[in-house]
Amino acid sequence: MSLLRLALLAACLSGPVAQAEGLDSARQAELDNLLRQDCGSCHGLRLTGGLGPPLTREALAGKPRDSLIATVRHGRPGTAMPGWEGLLGEQDIAWLIDRLTEGNPQ
Ligand code: HEC
Repeated sequence: MSLLRLALLAACLSGPVAQAEGLDSARQAELDNLLRQDCGSCHGLRLTGGLGPPLTREALAGKPRDSLIATVRHGRPGTAMPGWEGLLGEQDIAWLIDRLTEGNPQ
């Protein structure tokens, strides 16, 4: 392999992998923390349900991603579920929902 190709490969590998998915790892860590602390205060420490319903992969299976995102963004009026759009960006919310539907963190 030529030096040039090696250099190109190194540049690709050292790129911020998480950023390619939209959020850097510091933000992902913050969101994981929020999921446990804030969301967990209603949805249970392990998100298996409390005042709010479980947010496990099983519980969310089959629910449309868009409607779950809308629930987190706007909350559910008339219930304890608050809207988070003041605190969380669109990417943050989408990331949280994907994390939940993929079964993490549990
Ligand atoms: C103050 C309590 C409270 C907090 C904090 C809270 N939730 Fe909720 N959440 C609820 C309640 C209650 C419901 C059920 C609303 C209903 O009856 O439709 C709910 C519903 C949901 C749903 C829909 C579940 C389903 O099966 O359709 C999702 C997704 C959700 N919450 C995610 C979150 C996330 C993510 C956070 C943190 C960013 C969060 N919630 C924080 C109380 C809360």
